[in-house]
Amino acid sequence: MSKYIVSQSSPLSGTVTVSGSKNSALPILAATILANGCSVINDVPPLLDIQNMSDLLTCLGANVTVKGTSMSICCDRPISDVTSYEMVNKLRASFLITGPLLARVGKVKISLPGGCQIGTRPVDLHLKGLTAMGAKITQGHGYVEARCKKLKGAKIYLDFPSVGATENLIMAASLAEGLTIIENAAVEPEIVDLSNYINLLGGNVVGAGTDTIKITGVSELRGTTHTVIPDRIEAGTFLTATAMTGGKVRIENIMPKHLKPITAKMRESGIKITEGDGYIDVDASNKPKAVDIKTMPYPGFPTDMQAPYTSMMTIADGTSMVIETIFENRFLHVPELKRMGANVKIEGRTAVVEGAKKLTGAQVKATDLRAGAALVIAGLVADGTTEISDIHHIERGYYNFDEKLNSLGAKIIKTQ
Ligand code: UD1
Repeated sequence: MSKYIVSQSSPLSGTVTVSGSKNSALPILAATILANGCSVINDVPPLLDIQNMSDLLTCLGANVTVKGTSMSICCDRPISDVTSYEMVNKLRASFLITGPLLARVGKVKISLPGGCQIGTRPVDLHLKGLTAMGAKITQGHGYVEARCKKLKGAKIYLDFPSVGATENLIMAASLAEGLTIIENAAVEPEIVDLSNYINLLGGNVVGAGTDTIKITGVSELRGTTHTVIPDRIEAGTFLTATAMTGGKVRIENIMPKHLKPITAKMRESGIKITEGDGYIDVDASNKPKAVDIKTMPYPGFPTDMQAPYTSMMTIADGTSMVIETIFENRFLHVPELKRMGANVKIEGRTAVVEGAKKLTGAQVKATDLRAGAALVIAGLVADGTTEISDIHHIERGYYNFDEKLNSLGAKIIKTQ
């Protein structure tokens, strides 16, 4: 099992290039099965989650070829409608093929995704929306089966602006009969990217990026070329690493406006950030000050940045409150950070973080993707060395994380 051995590093400096967004690429790859012909998707980060989605598409009958960060997906052959427990278990986002398959083939049988470390993560909102569009849904033996001759446009109100449910329903509605209106839709940049891709396929999605999305179904979609947006969470993680080490870094290939919820808090914490065209310059000569955050759907502070931010608060000046409102169990990094000398108390959905003078290297475990990233950046400032196990979680979501940080002066060794 590979590990990262992270040694205390000097302030990070230089330029780092952010990869394409994993959370944008995954739904877009799922959406490729809506179209006849081939789609070429550029800037797809070569990550394990992407490989798993690509395997799933291949199992369904798509022809997938990869050239660097470009993927070509051709879906001319009739596609299968059954996905296994093993597939869904490898990648929660595989549930995103439910909407496209139902729209394209009229039926789908997919293993019900289980909970994961960070929460129970039900899919009731996805199913409620598909039911409103006329799908007959049954559940049994761990599988969801959905059938419908032709999905029909419907008015759907989401009880919570779920990212995945919004994506699944936009995709399903794109080939449905008539108009679908999704109210209280998620407004994340990844929703806009997916909608832009569907519109390039010949679809008709209006209002993405607002809480009301209108989709007029079309009879056919055809392959196209699309480039996914940069990964705002990867960028935010480099920003946090720079802030923690007191460094000076240019983070490029980003959309600064997508980072606003993160940069606003970083600025409050005393980090200097200058925005340019496609990049930000981060100057963290000042030690970060303690600043409270509360995770919220976009444009609130992203839950995916909560763990790295908590790491930063462990060495900030003062005491901060980190409130997690999206997932019920997303403080798994805290016991590991405490092994490194962090002063954190969890009270329900709040972590009270008292900034420590220093962290100390320890053996810790990456319990999930973002928790793992939080430990790596804590390791950069901890005395001595930090040994992080279970780094496959980190590699699911960060392309060449160790190499990119090392290019900025970090000292991370990956053991095989
Ligand atoms: C996506 C992101 C994930 C991010 C999350 C929130 C991808 C591949 N993953 O996950 O990195 O942390 O958005 O920004 O894009 N919920 C329900 N019922 C549902 C669906 C969701 O109760 O049917 C709840 C979830 O349990 C969770 C909350 O809604 O508590 C947010 O989930 P959702 O926005 O759906 O997240 P994902 O799409 O799974």
